This record gives sequence, structure tokens and C-alpha cells, in this order.
Amino acid sequence: MNVDLYEKIWMAAAAALIAVFLLAIIVAAGAYAVQPPSHVEIIDPTTVYDHPEFGAPGVETRPDGSVVVTVVAEMFFFDPDPIEVPAGRPVTFRLTSPDVIHGFEVVGTNANAMVIPGYVSEFTTTFAKPGEYMVVCHEYCGMLHHNMGATLVVQEATE
Ligand code: CUA
Repeated sequence: MNVDLYEKIWMAAAAALIAVFLLAIIVAAGAYAVQPPSHVEIIDPTTVYDHPEFGAPGVETRPDGSVVVTVVAEMFFFDPDPIEVPAGRPVTFRLTSPDVIHGFEVVGTNANAMVIPGYVSEFTTTFAKPGEYMVVCHEYCGMLHHNMGATLVVQEATE
């Protein structure tokens, strides 16, 4: 079979591009811990405010020292705001929405999730550096999407 030189070049270029994309996924997952969420938990979006956990969102410290942050994302704010967590300890975020799809991203960190009505999004991360971080909604959710944000305060470890 005779394959034209130009065709060979394009075939090689396409194969190289696929290799680069695969490598990017492997590097992102391996070196930067960028992974798809794997937690599936459902919640009735119409009763979020009466839910024992999401009815009173906030920050809770477990006996083992780990921290759980329950957040409700709705048009067009996050509750609680500000969110205060300690540095250097695992922080588990649990998020849901009573209205539409929102996003939850802590700028400059790997904390990033979609917040989908009917589901609880959960991920755990550790913030090494104390300081104030900006939280943004990164899923278009309506007229004031661009205003939807919060502040995450990472406090210096006390012990
Ligand atoms: Cu909430 Cu965009």
C-alpha cells in the first residue's frame, strides 16, 4: 500500500497530538491530583433548608481533628461566607444546591467541584498556606453569576 508523504506527516502529527493529550491527563492526575469526583450521594433539592446537615451549613471539627465544611450554593451566594478552616489539616467539603447548577472553586488551589441540585458533592483537600482565598462560582447560574463568590480564610495551625 502506498501512503503519500503528506498523509504520513499528518498521520504522525495526529498521533503525536493524541500522545500529548494523554500525557497531559496523566500528568494532571498524577502530579497535580486533578481527578474527577467519585462521590455519589443524593439529596432532595426541595428540602435542603430542612435537611439536618444542609439546613445549618457551617464548619465542624471532628474528634480526630479533621474538618468538615457544609456549604449550600444558591443564587447568588455561598452559605457560610466567610468559610474559616485551619491550615495543614484535611478539610472535607460537602456541597449542594437547592436551585441550579453552581460551581465551587477555591482560586489557586485544587479545591474545585460542580454543585448540582439533587446531589452532594464531596471532596477533601488540605490547605498548606494560611491566608485569604477567593471562592468563585464557575458554572453559569443566572444573571448575577459573575457576582457569586465567597471568602475562604485559612487560619494558621494552632497546635
Ligand atoms: Cu452560581 Cu454561577
